[in-house]
Amino acid sequence: MHAGMVLRRLLKIDANTSAPVETLHGDPRIALVSQFFEGTGATYDRMVQWATLGIDRLWKRRMVRAIPADARRILDLACGTGISTLAIARARPDAEIVGVELREEYLQFAREKLEDEPRPNISLVLSRAEDYTSAVPFDCISSSYLAKYAELPRLIAANRAMLRPGGVLLMHDFTLPPNPLLRVIWRAYFKIMQHTVARALPSWREIYFGLPRLIEATQWITELPQVLRAQGFEDIRVEYLTLYGSALVTARTPDSRPTARPVTPARPADSR
Ligand SMILES: C[S@@+](CC[C@H](N)C(=O)[O-])C[C@H]1O[C@@H](n2cnc3c(N)ncnc32)[C@H](O)[C@@H]1O
Repeated sequence: MHAGMVLRRLLKIDANTSAPVETLHGDPRIALVSQFFEGTGATYDRMVQWATLGIDRLWKRRMVRAIPADARRILDLACGTGISTLAIARARPDAEIVGVELREEYLQFAREKLEDEPRPNISLVLSRAEDYTSAVPFDCISSSYLAKYAELPRLIAANRAMLRPGGVLLMHDFTLPPNPLLRVIWRAYFKIMQHTVARALPSWREIYFGLPRLIEATQWITELPQVLRAQGFEDIRVEYLTLYGSALVTARTPDSRPTARPVTPARPADSR
C-alpha cells in the first residue's frame, strides 16, 4: 500500500479525534504527527522510558555509538524534546549539534532542558526535516523515530546534499517483528497500553491507537535502503535491535563525488 494512502486511512480511523487535523494541514504526514503528539510534550520523556522499559535509552546509546569519532558537525532530525540531541551532545561535547523539530510544543521542552543543562554546542531549529537545508555541510545526520513519518525520497535527497563526502546517515525507528510469536506479543503489548495508559492519560490515546497501525503499515525499512541506493549512498546497513522491535539503518556518502561519466551514444539495436 502506498505510504500516503496509509496515512490518509490512519487519519480517518479515529473520526472522533479532538482536532480537525485534515483541515488543519494539507499534508497528511504533518496532520498525523499533530494528531499523535498534540499535548504529549510534558509527559513524553517519562512515557518513552517507562513504555519501552528503558530500552529507548539503549537504542539511543547504539545510535550515538554509530556516529563517526571524527564527526564535528552533527544534525539530529526530529529532535523532539531533545532526548537524542542531548545524548549526542553529552557524548560529543566538542561537536556542533543542530536539532531540527517540526513541532514548537516539543521544541519548547528541548529549550527548557537546555536552560537546566546549558550546552552551547547545541542549536535548535523549528523546521520540517524534509525542508531543512544548510550551506555548511554535516559529518553525520541522525534521526530517531522520524523515518515512518517522513517523505523519504525528499528527505534523503536533502540529507545527501548536506552531508560532506564520506558523511554518515543514521536512521532509527520502530519495526514490526517478522516472527509470528513476537508479533503476538507486540500486538498484546499495544492492546494493554490502549486499555490502561490511553485511558488514564487521554493525550496519549491517539499514539497508542495510531502508532501500532502505522508501524504495521509503514514500509520505511524496505523503502529507505532503496531510496539511499538511488541517491548514491554506499555501505547501506540495516541492524535490527531488541527482538526486531526497531532498526538502525546506516549509510555513507561516497568519499568523493563521482565525476560525471562521458555520455556514450546508445548503439542501435540491430547493430550487433
Ligand atoms: C517520537 S518523537 C522522537 C523525538 C526524539 N528524536 C527522540 O528520540 O526522543 C518523534 C518526533 O518527530 C517529529 N517529527 C515527525 N515528523 C517530522 C518531520 N517531518 N520533520 C521534523 N520532525 C518531525 C515529531 O514532531 C516528534 O517530535
